Amino acid sequence: MPKIALITGITGQDGSYLTELLLSKGYAVHGLIRRASTFNTQRIDHLYQDPHDVNTRLFLHYGDLSDSSRLTNLFYQIQPDEVYHLGAQSHVRVSFDMPDYTGDVTGLGTVRLLEAIRKSGVRCRLYQASSSEMFGGSPPPQNEKTPFQPRSPYAAAKVYAHWMVSNYREAYGLFACNGIMFNHESPRRGETFVSRKICRAVARIVAGQQKKLFLGNLDAHRDWGFAPEYVEGMWLMLQQNSARDLVFGTGVAHLVREFLEEAFLHVNLKWQNYVEIDPRYFRPTEVPLLQADPSEAKRHLQWQATVTFKELVKIMVGAELRALQLSDARSQDASLDARFNWFKKP
Ligand code: NAP
Ligand code: GDD
Repeated sequence: MPKIALITGITGQDGSYLTELLLSKGYAVHGLIRRASTFNTQRIDHLYQDPHDVNTRLFLHYGDLSDSSRLTNLFYQIQPDEVYHLGAQSHVRVSFDMPDYTGDVTGLGTVRLLEAIRKSGVRCRLYQASSSEMFGGSPPPQNEKTPFQPRSPYAAAKVYAHWMVSNYREAYGLFACNGIMFNHESPRRGETFVSRKICRAVARIVAGQQKKLFLGNLDAHRDWGFAPEYVEGMWLMLQQNSARDLVFGTGVAHLVREFLEEAFLHVNLKWQNYVEIDPRYFRPTEVPLLQADPSEAKRHLQWQATVTFKELVKIMVGAELRALQLSDARSQDASLDARFNWFKKP
């Protein structure tokens, strides 16, 4: 019998890569999707399998993290072996505009999932998508012992979810892990996160479709890695003999302005000629410096990020240029395919 996985947030960046990884390992994958008036499955459309086919291993279910009874019913129905909880209102800036909603979905949504596991009595392992954003104002490098100092409604909601997962592990003996992941990006990143926003703008400027790029704070440091490597870390966490919380990152931090510099350099343009600051993108409280100390993940899982900052920017700018048919960059794809042999091009 194949192992059965349930993924919340399957339509997001990480959910799509994780689905590819688990399908390549022979899992049956069930995903929670939100009902919307338009299609929201673009990131997983290339993986679609006809539910009438007996060999189908990908199943999608309507549901929402705000709906406890639906979550509990899905546990009875699916009986998953492994649960990857990635669903969240994941945008930090937006969480200042929607603190109530963010607390409900990102914080309480996790508790609803934990309760669904407990009430259904299904014996499964749980991965919770915790975040480096929880470290907030704590000085770097941040590791498993660094105190949390959340500086946004999103981070506060993630801290709540994180501790609830730890509590259910202790109180009910649940095999539950918090993966405290630093920023990870890819061509599938949401368009409003800074990495994708910059890379998309670079290609659109080259194509003559955009003149200016409006950004907020250029002086924050982030530890940016490549998303497919991080979903391998999630899977590894659930294959261990015991559950523990671990930090995942590259260990190297760069400024937002360095990301800009690197991305514009690929098309031989000077970012200073195109970028303008729009205070709308400032956050009421900013996290100045996130830089991981990922040594425990290396020690326990032999996990290590291998894609460098420069490679990441190249991958992302290359994908945007290809999307606008400004480059074919086949060689870059070939090297990526070799490194992530479970990777499926959309
Ligand atoms: P993402 O692209 O924003 O995806 C979020 C997913 O959550 C989407 O599938 C979204 O569905 C779903 N979702 C949102 N609200 C929901 C609700 N009320 N009910 C059910 N599903 C809902 O995020 P990501 O970058 O893949 O990140 C995955 C997880 O890791 C998130 O929890 C994020 O906070 C966390 N994380 C991310 C990073 C990072 O750098 N990427 C780092 C640390 C932690 P729709 O497609 O319908 O919107
Ligand atoms: N989004 C955005 N848009 N960020 C900007 C902009 C802009 O126009 N201009 C500057 N920034 C700065 C932000 O202020 C922040 O310091 C940095 O760029 C990165 O912002 P995001 O890409 O939005 O990511 P994030 O670090 O706030 O949050 C992401 O990483 C977390 C892990 O540390 C998200 O994926 C979270 O869900 C995740 O938990």
